[in-house]
Amino acid sequence: MKVLILPDQQTAITRAADIVADTVTKQPDAVLGLATGGTMVPLYSELAQRHREAGLSFAQTTSFNLDEYIGLSPDHPCSYHHFMQETFFDHVDIDPSRTHLPKGDAPDPRIASDAYEALIAKAGGIDLQLLGIGQNGHIGFNEPTASLGSRTRVKTLTHSTRQANQRYFASFDETPKYAITTGVATILESRMCLLIATGEAKAKAVADMIEGPLTAVCPASALQLHARATIVLDEAAAGALALRDYYQTVHPEGRDSAFD
Ligand code: F6R
Repeated sequence: MKVLILPDQQTAITRAADIVADTVTKQPDAVLGLATGGTMVPLYSELAQRHREAGLSFAQTTSFNLDEYIGLSPDHPCSYHHFMQETFFDHVDIDPSRTHLPKGDAPDPRIASDAYEALIAKAGGIDLQLLGIGQNGHIGFNEPTASLGSRTRVKTLTHSTRQANQRYFASFDETPKYAITTGVATILESRMCLLIATGEAKAKAVADMIEGPLTAVCPASALQLHARATIVLDEAAAGALALRDYYQTVHPEGRDSAFD
């Protein structure tokens, strides 16, 4: 794992945006795996700004989001379809016909899950997968004990994930219980993974992911198996790392090393 520790949230987001911009510039038709959640909001805002001010183009990219709640239609204000539209797609030149999210309102979410996995394969797989991390170590909605060999499927959300996401809904009871998520194995097949974590609340999950055992109890620890996984952190999210000094020696202030 390449662990980049930046002084604060803003510099971490800028560093992550540099990596996305570099991918899209070198490979304009890249297939991007996208994530939602609070961590991604400033990243999408930064990428939109680079589109407006520096001509960063997403016109030829294809995108696949990690997950969507079951039971919400794309126009539901709390759906991830809506989130992506509002925070990113409306602000860049991505072709709407090449953006994809799991169909949370499909009559049979299991069939929709299989179809989504097949669609990713048909697109040639994901070049760059963006990821956040849950406080319980989830990636996508692969909750603790999710199979590390899993593919896109229906997952039941944990109580703690529903509590964390309740802020977007009117009440806990209205927070969905189920989601379609790409699997851990789907994520591991991406050619590069870029996980971003900011804030002290993520420090334990980040330490478990990077330095804990490889275990389904912390699905993000599966990234230890990925040959090109970059983890971008701010100081607060890096707070529980035992080998923090080492990461900072290899990548001072999150810069690339001489051999990257
Ligand atoms: C969302 C997703 C989740 C989030 C994670 C962190 O598409 O895949 O794994 O990345 O729950 O969410 P925030 O950034 O809101 O803390």
